[in-house]
Amino acid sequence: MADPKQPAPSQDNVNPGTARLQIGNEVFDLPIRRDSIGDARIVDITGLFQRAGVMTYDVGYTSTAGTESAITYIDGDKGILLYRGYPIEEIANGSYMETAYLLLKGELPTSEQLKAFEADIVSRMPVHEQLLSILDRHKRDTHPMALVSSMVTDLSGFHSDIDTSKPEGRYEVALNLIAKIPTIVAAAQRYSQGKPVIRPSSQLGYSENFLRMCFADASGHYVQNDVLTKAMDRVFILHADHEQNASTSTVRLAGSTGTEPYAALSAGVAALWGPAHGGANEAVLKMLKGIGTVDKIPEFIAAVKVKGGETKLMGFGHRVYKNFDPRANIIKADCDSVLAGLGVSNPLLEVAKELERIALSDPYFKDRKLYPNVDFYSGIILSAMKFPVQMFTPLFALARTSGWIAQWQEMVNAPKLTIGRPRQNYTGPEQRPYPAIETRGPNGDSARGTLTGGVDAPKRATDVA
Ligand code: ACO
Repeated sequence: MADPKQPAPSQDNVNPGTARLQIGNEVFDLPIRRDSIGDARIVDITGLFQRAGVMTYDVGYTSTAGTESAITYIDGDKGILLYRGYPIEEIANGSYMETAYLLLKGELPTSEQLKAFEADIVSRMPVHEQLLSILDRHKRDTHPMALVSSMVTDLSGFHSDIDTSKPEGRYEVALNLIAKIPTIVAAAQRYSQGKPVIRPSSQLGYSENFLRMCFADASGHYVQNDVLTKAMDRVFILHADHEQNASTSTVRLAGSTGTEPYAALSAGVAALWGPAHGGANEAVLKMLKGIGTVDKIPEFIAAVKVKGGETKLMGFGHRVYKNFDPRANIIKADCDSVLAGLGVSNPLLEVAKELERIALSDPYFKDRKLYPNVDFYSGIILSAMKFPVQMFTPLFALARTSGWIAQWQEMVNAPKLTIGRPRQNYTGPEQRPYPAIETRGPNGDSARGTLTGGVDAPKRATDVA
């Protein structure tokens, strides 16, 4: 193997599959990896610190691949999203159960396999009564994401008999999570509304069951509506997976410690809650309501463009998509058909469409490559379906559970599980003597000098010539 600290070879000897990092007189050859499609080049720096004492700095991981994965592929410039190689536009015409099967197992099911899979999932939908009873210990107005997160963690106590050291056990955990999350999310909704929890029915499919658990009357009576069931399924499919986004990376990072899979999933729920991620759908609806009417849009857009201002156009922008989000195109088209199918109108849809039109022709958004993401229109559909705004993010969590657990399963089934542990660029004080308490001033002053106003941080990479 070549000595990584060897002097730079002549240009002729450079392997085209190798990147060269030069720091002063030191040169490090680093292999280049490729995705199985597309033209991204991935410089493999594994072991660079151990080998050479060199770290990379990449806040927000905008240029860092933290794992291999064969589940989902995104080409953000071309607006391509593939689940296991299949385009989202085509997958969206199937069912969520088919998507969940595909994500978990890698291939599409036959109709027999799909039937058996859904039957297995539906049979696992009930949760233990004791799990539901933890709801009563929460304040009624607790955000349903907190309720969902607690209950998902608590599932571990009810399934501790499953041996997750074997792939079969892990698969069973995956089935359990996909099956029980609708029951948990629906229970959270009903608790928030002060309504009695409805148990799942063995006679109904996945999405029908979920809708009944959310909207049935106290006796469990609910009239199925095909438009609603189809719309629900589509929302679930479109949110099912999205490669290494913040919540999925959180599931992987937590899972890499060997923690309970239910706890790792709960960490994903927590990460999803934020408005920069899954909480955006709730924030979009609040924003549209705040704007109210089409004539107020210019004023709102002006506020968004204020340098350093607080206002953001929620549902716009994406870390990876810099052209369009294919899920947004599908869901925008669904808005019209779902609203028409349900016979409802929503003036906020007009506000959303006009807001999109104005933003897409404005240089501020064009120059920054900001386009509507999946959450720009999803809230309109979910409102038409009569979900409370606070439920939008829990619905996202429900859908993303199949992706999270497929990613967890892929990670844990791999030959080697490496704990995720990023490094840092330390900017704090140098080592200093610990002062006795009576010598300290109110702002950190000590007998040996003043430390008020923070400690200079001269060691940042950008400060070094
Ligand atoms: N409204 C106004 N300006 C924006 C927006 C927005 N929604 N998004 C990005 N920008 C601006 C930034 O202010 C920045 O401007 P500057 O160059 O003048 O400083 C520039 O565009 C680049 O933005 P970044 O924050 O660097 O982009 P990043 O990739 O880090 O953030 C994110 C992506 C978090 C999604 C961001 O676009 C955002 O906050 N959008 C609104 C929230 C949202 O819709 N989140 C859902 C994402 S999809 C999902 O999770 C399902």
